[in-house]
Amino acid sequence: MTDKKKTTKKAPVKKVTAKKTVAVKKIKAAPKKAAVATAHIAKAFEPKTPTQFSIAKALESHKVASSEIQKKITFKIQRAEKDPRTKKLKTWFEEFKVPYDDSTTVLQGLEWIKGREDGTLTFRRSCRASICGSCGMFINNRSRLACKTKIVDLVKGMPEKNYQGMPVILISPQKNQPVEKDLVIALDSFYSKVHSITPYVQSGEETAKSVTKDSFEQVNLVSNCIMCGLCYSDCTALVENPDYLGPAALAKAFRFVADPREGKRTERLRQLSEDNGVWDCTRCGMCLDACPKGVDPMEAIVKLRTRAIAADITNNKGARHALAFKADIAHWGVLNEPMLLVKTFGSEVVNHIGTAMHLLKKAKLPSIIPHKVDGLDEIKKIYEELEKNPIDVETKAEDSGPGAG
Ligand code: SF4
Ligand code: SF4
Ligand code: FES
Repeated sequence: MTDKKKTTKKAPVKKVTAKKTVAVKKIKAAPKKAAVATAHIAKAFEPKTPTQFSIAKALESHKVASSEIQKKITFKIQRAEKDPRTKKLKTWFEEFKVPYDDSTTVLQGLEWIKGREDGTLTFRRSCRASICGSCGMFINNRSRLACKTKIVDLVKGMPEKNYQGMPVILISPQKNQPVEKDLVIALDSFYSKVHSITPYVQSGEETAKSVTKDSFEQVNLVSNCIMCGLCYSDCTALVENPDYLGPAALAKAFRFVADPREGKRTERLRQLSEDNGVWDCTRCGMCLDACPKGVDPMEAIVKLRTRAIAADITNNKGARHALAFKADIAHWGVLNEPMLLVKTFGSEVVNHIGTAMHLLKKAKLPSIIPHKVDGLDEIKKIYEELEKNPIDVETKAEDSGPGAG
């Protein structure tokens, strides 16, 4: 009995030991098999062509970049919401800590906040590649495309842009336009101005008989505009006069004035010379600096002015002011300011008598007969030279080609 018991006890033990041995063998073999499989896969995906090789390298460097995401930066974002009853806009600031590496853009930072911290944060974006123009916002005191602006550049600074760098990213909506919610602005005024310049080629008597490649250089330059509105947001003239057409609409207007197929060029120039048009620009250069596509709206506005004067469209304040300015410098070497006002405003100068009386009282009214400056002969020589060889602004622009920028 005792022997029998012993036998029945031993049998299952033997069985279990056998199973364990098989399992241990399998486990021991697994890493070997896995290593063989990995080697096969690695061989199959080994880069063979130069393109495959560079993709592999890029993936490798991306792995390194991802692992380096250690740094964090504070995003201080202006939030805004309309009261549904009163429609009054309430604004406040909120701060978020955002991780970044050397390639993280402000847009990626905003996406990170929206995905992980606060899904109600509202902003526009689409292409993520400076093409659609929808992610324009006011970032660290200038209007910029969020998808084109790297966080590291804002932190370290950009000497080429005379930007010193800041330890925090301040983000608010574009300026000169009403805010809808958070970083989203209403685009109505921007687009109604673009539409007001008749943004298409019109048939008419002035259509050129032939169209050359050279004649399209000017058109190409302005055609790079992506309607992002950054120039409009940074424009100083719009702060003073919200009815001013603004740099983007005027740059577009130049595109049609310069187009050799345009048939109503002079009519366009006449309209653009009216109030709120080309002569309202203060030539501050902010639009030139803000534009992410190198359009240079200020240069386009100067060309429109030059063309308007060349077409004898001078019966307006802006053109009268420019011509009187030029005549004063040629004659005196300095401005005859009281007469400059009279020549600019004509009979409307009576509206400025209050200012003149104020200046007179403070003994600050300039003489109506200024002193001629020393070296006037030199100034006259410059004028003679310019009149002999006028600067052809049309030849200064380079052909950037379609889609460049
Ligand atoms: S240069 Fe003229 S259009 Fe451009 S931002 Fe200044 S005022 Fe506005
Ligand atoms: S001119 Fe430049 S800044 Fe202005 S809307 Fe066009 S692309 Fe944007
Ligand atoms: S998302 Fe398209 S320009 Fe920035």
